[in-house]
Amino acid sequence: MSTPIVNPPMGRASRILGVGGYRPARSVPNEEILKNIDSSDEWIRTRSGIESRRWANEDETVVAMSLEAAGKALAHAGVTPDQIGCVIVATVTHLYQTPSAAAEIAHKLGTNRAAAFDISAACAGFCYGVALGSDMVRSRTADHVLVIGVERLSDLTDHYDRSTAFLFADGAGAAVVGPADEPGIGPVVWGSDGQHLKLIGQRQEWREALYHEDGPQLPALVMEGNAVFRWASYEMANTAKQALEAAGVAADDIDVFVPHQANDRITTAMARALKLPDHVVVARDIRQQGNTSAASIPLALERLIETGEASSGQLALLIGFGAGLVYGAQVVRIP
Ligand SMILES: CC(C)(COP(=O)(O)OP(=O)(O)OC[C@H]1O[C@@H](n2cnc3c(N)ncnc32)[C@H](O)[C@@H]1OP(=O)(O)O)[C@@H](O)C(=O)NCCC(=O)NCCS
Repeated sequence: MSTPIVNPPMGRASRILGVGGYRPARSVPNEEILKNIDSSDEWIRTRSGIESRRWANEDETVVAMSLEAAGKALAHAGVTPDQIGCVIVATVTHLYQTPSAAAEIAHKLGTNRAAAFDISAACAGFCYGVALGSDMVRSRTADHVLVIGVERLSDLTDHYDRSTAFLFADGAGAAVVGPADEPGIGPVVWGSDGQHLKLIGQRQEWREALYHEDGPQLPALVMEGNAVFRWASYEMANTAKQALEAAGVAADDIDVFVPHQANDRITTAMARALKLPDHVVVARDIRQQGNTSAASIPLALERLIETGEASSGQLALLIGFGAGLVYGAQVVRIP
């Protein structure tokens, strides 16, 4: 037989050691959105929960916002950049196809040549990244993994399309995943439902947009909002339930519910379907932040920790879902 391949022993536990976020400075109230679309403040608030959202300025790039969020997450975790073995960036709005945002961020943070890559899993991206990071730590592929969810959705929004103009927003959130004595990240329940591929996505591909016969177009995001709404409200509660079962915890054991901040009514419908008891704190970050896709879960989690509504050691149920349609959920212990 030829020489056997050596693998390090498996079986180490993982947990989130720190989180951090970056919210763009500019807050955009519903009134400003109404300059471009036929709608009302009342309609936007009652249908989505959104009162205002944050939009990035020119300097608040995907990389710049990520570096701010990552710096806070590293400080919260007590981990230095040179300890990071891998950087995973979940985004659909880094407008360079290559090189990855992750490679630039790994370099600018001062990691010691960490592995780095971007993932495209839309609003499920952060949960996907945490799942990958957790498995890397457990299998000793990396000691510490920096997971970032970041979007500048305002760049890919048609600000005259009333089905999306009020919804999408910008921001970055990050988490450091590292080794632990006890499991702090439950098994991910994830998947894709490609029969709904057309419900959210870019209007056309870049080549078609750039060389359009009427001149260059913005390949903006388009969405069949109501169909997504129904799918998310019903199917995602089941996925969240499976994540609880996979982690061996009951709805009663959960302290905090942090779903992707897609729409406040989806959050309410899921919380009801899950029969979450009254003591569970439910993230409602969308109201002042809008829908920031991959960034929404870490931003909402950070806000709950900052306000004291969530505290270290508590159990949080996370669920992300979006274009694909793709989804991922897991139970985590709050750092
Ligand atoms: C977008 C969303 C807020 C719309 O809410 P909704 O209750 O589903 O509204 P509908 O699309 O069914 O439209 C209801 C009515 O409002 C109208 N409408 C649509 N957009 C409007 C707007 N911005 N202002 C005023 N009226 C609007 C529609 O034309 C429709 O009118 P009609 O009843 O006369 O036909 C909601 O569907 C949603 O949030 N969906 C999921 C979003 C999401 O999760 N996206 C991506 C995953 S990250």
